[in-house]
Amino acid sequence: MDSGSKLLETYYAALRESKLLSYMSIAFTVIGLAQYFSFGYKLTSLLFQLFLIPGRSLSKYGAKKGAWAVVTGASDGIGKEYAEQLAKAGFNILLVSRTESKLATLSSEIESAYPKSSTKYLAIDFASAGDAEYVKLKAVVDELDVGVLVNNVGQSHSIPVPFYLVDDKELADIIAINDLATLRVTRIILPQLLASRRGLILTMGSFGGYFPTPYLSVYSGSKAFLQHWSSALAVELEGTGVDVEFVLSYLVTSAMSKIRRSSALIPTPKQFVASTLSSIGLSRGAQLVSYSSTPYWSHAIFQFFVDQSVGAWSRAVAASNLKMHMQIRKRALKKAEREKST
Ligand SMILES: NC(=O)c1ccc[n+]([C@@H]2O[C@H](COP(=O)([O-])OP(=O)(O)OC[C@H]3O[C@@H](n4cnc5c(N)ncnc54)[C@H](OP(=O)(O)O)[C@@H]3O)[C@@H](O)[C@H]2O)c1
Repeated sequence: MDSGSKLLETYYAALRESKLLSYMSIAFTVIGLAQYFSFGYKLTSLLFQLFLIPGRSLSKYGAKKGAWAVVTGASDGIGKEYAEQLAKAGFNILLVSRTESKLATLSSEIESAYPKSSTKYLAIDFASAGDAEYVKLKAVVDELDVGVLVNNVGQSHSIPVPFYLVDDKELADIIAINDLATLRVTRIILPQLLASRRGLILTMGSFGGYFPTPYLSVYSGSKAFLQHWSSALAVELEGTGVDVEFVLSYLVTSAMSKIRRSSALIPTPKQFVASTLSSIGLSRGAQLVSYSSTPYWSHAIFQFFVDQSVGAWSRAVAASNLKMHMQIRKRALKKAEREKST
């Protein structure tokens, strides 16, 4: 036996004697079992929340009792669906968005489809809104009994773009619309919700902010900002009767996503909003972030497995995001070139 083997033999003999090996194997077995059961528990909880446990009733926030829901970015896409489905659930609706003609049409559509629901609308361009516009909003809101605020308005980059090439106006607009407007609108409505000791604040997040998203960096950062702000606000408001929830989503068919055809992974706004409003208070796929929800079933399962395997912040996720957006940019630039030459 050479001296190395002798040393190993002595080492193992010492381990056997000190019972260290058996303690170590017990410890590893316990850790392994704990991980196994924790994964099983999280998966079971996800499936129960997706398919069995109902969300909180909207009557807690004044549905069918004359309360109003305020929806920003209400004239199109996901916001339009929030407005319609909240009217169907028994709220009166204040529609806030940029294009007055679209708001007027939607307002009469809602009132004829849901005669018990009243509507009001206010056109504000959140990219350029100053104090005067927010004072106007406050004057309208102060006349209403608000139960729900949906912070839905949002803008992304027109096409994926490296940060150093982001247009100055696009950069300023994304921050003004996604962040500043959301904060200012919430500050106008929150005192009323606190005074009535009931309310729900939903803020639209995005996987684009949950997973760091290169080539959509300003949008990604603006949504990550909202994620932390919303969670901090939720903790501040614990016990006041005002519930705060951040709503995460992968792609949904809309003007913003530029996707028209839905699929298992890309719902229509109708499907997405129905899943959101029926699961208030459930985290579903957003198990790692408190006061947040990923309501749509396929988004939830996707997020659950990425979180449990590589993690949202892993380099692998960022690299695959980068590759995807570089390809989208290439296609968008080619399309713009073709359109220019015809
Ligand atoms: N679609 C997706 O794949 C997806 C995925 C994750 C998260 N989200 C989030 O979901 C929310 C809604 O997205 P969407 O896809 O429904 O968007 P969308 O179809 O583009 O609709 C955006 C809405 O916001 C309004 N708006 C845009 N700029 C405005 C401004 N400067 N001032 C006032 N209103 C303005 C639009 O009004 P006009 O009608 O006047 O244009 C429209 O009503 C956003 O916060 C977005 O980040 C979307």
